[in-house]
Amino acid sequence: MFQTRITELFDIKYPIICGGMYWIGRAELVAAVANAGGLGFIVGATFENVDDLRAEIRKARDLTDGPIGLNINLFPALRPQPIEAWVEVACEEKIPVVETSGRSPEAIVEPLHAGGVKIMHKVPGVKYARTVERLGCDAVSVVGHECGGHPGMDEVTTLIMVPATVDAVSIPVVAAGGFADGRGLVAALALGADAVLMGTRFMATKECRGHPDWKDWLVNAAETDTTYCMKSIKNPSRVIKNAVSAKVMEMEAQGATLEELIPIIAGQGGAVFDDGKMDSQLASAGQAIGLIHDVPTVKELIDRIVDEAIEIRERLNASIR
Ligand SMILES: Cc1cc2nc3c(=O)[nH]c(=O)nc-3n(C[C@H](O)[C@H](O)[C@H](O)COP(=O)(O)O)c2cc1C
Repeated sequence: MFQTRITELFDIKYPIICGGMYWIGRAELVAAVANAGGLGFIVGATFENVDDLRAEIRKARDLTDGPIGLNINLFPALRPQPIEAWVEVACEEKIPVVETSGRSPEAIVEPLHAGGVKIMHKVPGVKYARTVERLGCDAVSVVGHECGGHPGMDEVTTLIMVPATVDAVSIPVVAAGGFADGRGLVAALALGADAVLMGTRFMATKECRGHPDWKDWLVNAAETDTTYCMKSIKNPSRVIKNAVSAKVMEMEAQGATLEELIPIIAGQGGAVFDDGKMDSQLASAGQAIGLIHDVPTVKELIDRIVDEAIEIRERLNASIR
């Protein structure tokens, strides 16, 4: 059921992936996704040193026999350690799949492959997907404008981004940006993707760390409660609407420089996610918040997505004569 090139490549039951999320993507969430038949990623950048990262990977291994992925964000500002250190951890800890993002993975494709690690690189545009294929990555994930985190500069939505990418490359394509339920999974597969990748939806699960007030906010938020900012400094981000994102947008409208913005944009997420202080920092989230109505366990969420997708398939089969 729902066998795709991605389920085969990554040896997972369902074509459902939890994208790496800075601060959020930790052992409990990633292990819960693996136990439920999907694949998730511990985020290297969250940890101050390599020993803490290794400890987190081992903690996840104690919680599941399923695959534990590692996210390597190549964006310079998000690199507390040299890339080589993360590559070494991935190879030594026998991580099956690394999700890279932020910059070209060119320098680490060969060493990761030599260590037996598969690479899925995340891009915000079709032209970058072509490069990912040329570099020899095993899969590409592509995010549309509605995604949490970093949509591209071009503001192309998932509905166009996914089929355009599928047409442009022959490696497996993972669709991301705005997915939250079984309808989204079927839609992604219909667009030609081999799996769906979600970030925002997984934040409202029991195993995901987060203050109850933050999770309540996610449940009650509407699809209009995020905003797209920082395009002026070429670091476009989709974040929740709050006092800080309003300030950033006001400063951008007045022509603020990166140096002027840094004190406001630094230290994303922790106080919002962990302390529920909603107006304290920038916090990444996608428009999928409008599709979140509860805080299930990860297994309940994934089972529900699969059941809903099967129901939709049956409904479509019955309606096509
Ligand atoms: C809070 C948060 C933090 C994120 N941090 C990272 C990160 O460190 N590295 C990365 O590659 N993607 C990161 N992302 C992007 C997600 O992995 C994923 O691509 C995105 O959430 C998909 O869109 P969706 O939110 O609409 O599901 C983050 C997303 C969120 C919501």
